Amino acid sequence: MVWTRESLKIDLVERIGNHRFIVVSNREPYVHSSTSDGIACHAPASGMTMALDPVMRASGGTWIAAGTGDADPRTVDDHDRLRVPPFDPRYTLRRVWLSKQEEYAYYYGYANEGLWPLCHIVHVRPVFRLADWEIYQQVNQRFADVVCEELGDDPGFVFIQDYHLALLSRLIKERRPDVIVAQFWHIPWPNPETFRVCPQAKDLLLGLLGNDILGFHIRYHGINFLQTVDRFLEVRTDWENMSATKDGRETLVRAYPISIDFERIQELATSREVRERAEALRRDPRFEGMRVAVGVERMDYTKGIVERLEAVDLLLERHPEYRRRFVLLQLGPISRIKIDKYKEYNDLVYRTIVRVNDRWGDADWQPVHLRTVLLDLAEIVSYFQASDLCIVNAIHDGMNLVAKEYVASRTDEDGVLILSRFTGSSRELKEALLVHPYDIDELADALHRALCLDPGEKAARMRRMREVVRRNNVYRWAGTIVQDMRRLL
Ligand code: G6P
Repeated sequence: MVWTRESLKIDLVERIGNHRFIVVSNREPYVHSSTSDGIACHAPASGMTMALDPVMRASGGTWIAAGTGDADPRTVDDHDRLRVPPFDPRYTLRRVWLSKQEEYAYYYGYANEGLWPLCHIVHVRPVFRLADWEIYQQVNQRFADVVCEELGDDPGFVFIQDYHLALLSRLIKERRPDVIVAQFWHIPWPNPETFRVCPQAKDLLLGLLGNDILGFHIRYHGINFLQTVDRFLEVRTDWENMSATKDGRETLVRAYPISIDFERIQELATSREVRERAEALRRDPRFEGMRVAVGVERMDYTKGIVERLEAVDLLLERHPEYRRRFVLLQLGPISRIKIDKYKEYNDLVYRTIVRVNDRWGDADWQPVHLRTVLLDLAEIVSYFQASDLCIVNAIHDGMNLVAKEYVASRTDEDGVLILSRFTGSSRELKEALLVHPYDIDELADALHRALCLDPGEKAARMRRMREVVRRNNVYRWAGTIVQDMRRLL
């Protein structure tokens, strides 16, 4: 059976009866900011919110998240709630307010200078400050208070997202042992040797074992997690059932590959608006007559943007036929810029672009174009359609949804996907041109191969990948998690 919005709705709305369905994450799905003409609303650049928003539209439940937009406080009611999406309200967003100091210590500090590099293993040294840890604990407690408030006396399912809230499940269970709690870890989980670098490793593991179910994108991360708890805690690990039992309470560890709303992207891809935009891009004087490669992501050191630029440099060196005939469009917003490592990475990306464009470009042609803006999904789909290939060469990524979005956008069965073997997506998208993200030579060769691929082979590969993503869509991801939660009732 192919999961759809409707089948998920039946599972979530009809089968869970009087149980509340609550999602909790740090990042909110809709951010309000002040503009010269009033208040604007945008969806942030986050694979996590992109995936959860269609699920919440189907469930009609409550999503609790930190309110980070400067106009967020002006758009909520007296209970810090509002109905979203703004023009088609389907579910409730409950905002949690954090002070600047809390945001620095818990979000920028502990979560993104500590846990993010720890779990991605990209040789950026994680930073763990005791002061950040203390605030991380306090913020997790604050989220627990809000979850309990939203639950009231009702029975419920709580579905927690990601590494910002590793302690939350235990804090909820202490007060509400009856509630079924699951958490999805959207980033990789490293091996025990790597995880022991974190001074609070044990506390984090104990926190996560408050969950009834802990989900990862792939089984490999689940195995790493079980090996880590086995090493650091007095627990009973059951390898056959993939679970860990601590003080008589069992946590099931499961793999649920996250995905996208395939149908929605397909609808966008065939819409007049997107087709016209794609046409306009193809006629843009900067790209007309060019072979176009596109890369879309937040500016993050896990994404391999510098390696991609080096590969373009090598391609142009080895294959003069692409000079004045090829462009890379690098799209996506600046991210987490208050963190030094991100500042340094941005500088490196800019310097590398200047070097490559200086080396090969001239007055009429620049091989690399950078747009550091937040694009909406329709714009991204138009760029995808106007391109010859998409390059996703992340150094390490739990899943990577850009790869799946590209495939869903190519209703014409054209286009080639170059995909890093170090992404969760590469386990499903086997018809992509798979590359080792540390091997620049291989990456340059893959660009050349993608540009020469026979149209028949291109279409056959794209067709098979589209079928995989159509079936393994985001409704299947959420539906299987909800079914597993319901079994625990
Ligand atoms: C990853 C994380 C998400 C996060 C997103 C964007 O996908 O797993 O939890 O929302 O990055 O990062 P940001 O820090 O802007 O929320």
